[in-house]
Amino acid sequence: MSTAYTGPAFDAVDIIRAKRDRGTLTADQIGWTIDAYTRGAIAEEQMAALNMAILLNGMGRTEIAQWTAAMIASGERMDFSGLRTPDGRVLATTDKHSTGGVGDKITLPLAPLVAVFGVAVPQLSGRGLGHTGGTLDKLEAIPGWRAELGHAEMMRQLSEVGAVICAAGAGLAPADKKLYALRDVTGTVESIELIASSIMSKKIAEGTGALVLDVKVGSGAFMKDVDQARRLARTMVDLGRDAGMATVALLTGMDTPLGLTAGNAIEVQEAVDVLDGGGPADVVELTVRLAQEMLAAAGVHDADPAAALRDGRAMDVWRRMIAAQGGDPLAALPVARESETLTAASDGVLTRVDALAVGVAAWRLGAGRARREDAVQAGAGVRLHAKPGDTVRAGQPLMTLLSDSPDRFPRAAAALADAVTIEAGNGQTRPGVVDASGARPLVLERIA
Ligand code: URA
Repeated sequence: MSTAYTGPAFDAVDIIRAKRDRGTLTADQIGWTIDAYTRGAIAEEQMAALNMAILLNGMGRTEIAQWTAAMIASGERMDFSGLRTPDGRVLATTDKHSTGGVGDKITLPLAPLVAVFGVAVPQLSGRGLGHTGGTLDKLEAIPGWRAELGHAEMMRQLSEVGAVICAAGAGLAPADKKLYALRDVTGTVESIELIASSIMSKKIAEGTGALVLDVKVGSGAFMKDVDQARRLARTMVDLGRDAGMATVALLTGMDTPLGLTAGNAIEVQEAVDVLDGGGPADVVELTVRLAQEMLAAAGVHDADPAAALRDGRAMDVWRRMIAAQGGDPLAALPVARESETLTAASDGVLTRVDALAVGVAAWRLGAGRARREDAVQAGAGVRLHAKPGDTVRAGQPLMTLLSDSPDRFPRAAAALADAVTIEAGNGQTRPGVVDASGARPLVLERIA
């Protein structure tokens, strides 16, 4: 049930002027704005102007908390406090949210992995827009798998399997859905205040007991530098804590894609490889680290997630989780009809494979959508054959482009024209996020 705003009404232009002139909005002004916008009583151009004023002039901590609370109040709240296993044991809940990156399939192995240790994972996910992929688009590559679940179905699956990855219902923070679509087309996505309140309103309304935020930093992320990412993480952790949710954030590198795949079916396959005890080292490392954080936030400190990947326990939960949503976990995944391979131009050490360029290429190949109503190609994407740090020889395959529509290859290849750096020397120059020793760790910082 939404808790509609009942305070005094305002003039939208006065509120825009106040923020334009660096004023502080009151709780009533914010509550009225979000409520009136959700009802259609504030025009899109007025909200666009207010968003731009917020992007340029910011909001204080109290304003961000009030903005977030107003977005939560625009819709329903979920409640997992009554969740039990079929034999009556109380189930704690824990969730993870990534701010979005390229090749980020971590949710797929992570949700079943955490469930192995008796903590439930209600993972409400979205579809991709632009160059960052969407978890639901990836899972829909699995024949039969269904993203839309009713509330009762979701609770039953959490109780019986322990993990659900499904679409967030339209009733959860509807103000954010409308606002995010507007920000997307008005150059106002990159406001720390608006990103923090957007993400946290959905997570707090979802009602998870604990939350781990994976805040991506680098060329393929919203936050291009560590200072910005740290500010975003701090803001979100404070919002979560204030709402009574155990919340921590990891800042993780997104200068280069995670793993060796960016797409839908090819990312599912990579996730299954991880669940099978294999897969790329960076995907395994981040999956295990996030699982430890999610479990610790839910009060489980003695778990060994790496062992549960090696011994098949996480794979068992994955198969039950996919089957519970109509999917066939053993079915062959769709394969793109056409492919084109890009090769190394010279001998040397690969020092850079740009995440943003790979994400844009995968999107242009059909793995992502330009408009919400577009369909995605399950088999499309980019498969990497080498990662930064690898030695390569001229003519060696570096990436394979995959699509059902060969006419998409030239624009995808154009996106990748400057994506790769090969250095003749020993590869000591390492652009992007590096630590004091010049190395590029995957987890850059932990904010609690
Ligand atoms: N993800 C969200 O849900 N909201 C934002 O504003 C940015 C990323």
